[in-house]
Amino acid sequence: MNTVKGKNILVIGGSSGIGLAITKQLIDQGAYVITASRRTIEVLTELRVTQLQIDVTGDIQALSALPDVLHGLVYCPGTINLKPFTRLTEEDFMQDMQVNVFGAVRVLQATIKHLKKSSGASVVFFGTVAARTGMNFHASVATAKSALHGLAVSLAAEYASSHIRFNSIAPSLTHTPLAGNLLSTPEKKENADKRHPLGRIGTPEEIASLAVYLLSDQASWITGQWIGMDGGMSTLKTI
Ligand SMILES: NC(=O)c1ccc[n+]([C@@H]2O[C@H](COP(=O)([O-])OP(=O)(O)OC[C@H]3O[C@@H](n4cnc5c(N)ncnc54)[C@H](OP(=O)(O)O)[C@@H]3O)[C@@H](O)[C@H]2O)c1
Repeated sequence: MNTVKGKNILVIGGSSGIGLAITKQLIDQGAYVITASRRTIEVLTELRVTQLQIDVTGDIQALSALPDVLHGLVYCPGTINLKPFTRLTEEDFMQDMQVNVFGAVRVLQATIKHLKKSSGASVVFFGTVAARTGMNFHASVATAKSALHGLAVSLAAEYASSHIRFNSIAPSLTHTPLAGNLLSTPEKKENADKRHPLGRIGTPEEIASLAVYLLSDQASWITGQWIGMDGGMSTLKTI
């Protein structure tokens, strides 16, 4: 059963990686998709996707052009700024909070009235495996993603009576431009694969499938959840 067909869905960060994979799957399944990020890209122009230009850390004025009713919102902007704790500056923490958390707050404050007009909207955030499973050098991004989850569950409670669902997907390492530095040589890629109990890192298409499911009516009783999608990284130790 196709349950995103005809829905209006806003993908913040649809120009790359997981957000681009989500956009393509939604289009394939008959949704009307609007993307918003700093860049517009040719591949989405060819797919006739409406692309708005915003910077979630500042100017989101272009979101005033949204349709009256939104059935779904996906918030993809994120960071991977890994450093030993003593080398992380206050500015690093602020930047990670700006992109991951305050950007989401800005976007939601601009869109919540559109989501409320749907009879059952769905909002999908992206956390990280490192927010629940402690990993060295992840102090800043884990702090920001944990805050994002706090936002998600609070809003899930506050808007449950408006039938707006909020869920977070927490990936481990996934093959996207954001993870480029961690996968820049065959050795790095092989080591990254080996760290996962299932023997490999994730693909944007795998993560996108779960996001599309959460946006669909099939997920209509799932809210306030943090769902790990990590090749077993957060829960398994193979011996
Ligand atoms: N890839 C991984 O290994 C991994 C692991 C754990 C968690 N995650 C999480 O998964 C989510 C998606 O990551 P990804 O790997 O798909 O990243 P990505 O390839 O870098 O894509 C990020 C998207 O967000 C947009 N974006 C970034 N900063 C923005 C800003 N200031 N204003 C507006 N748009 C902005 C980018 O578009 P523009 O550049 O055009 O603005 C792009 O479309 C992130 O939240 C990330 O933290 C990823």
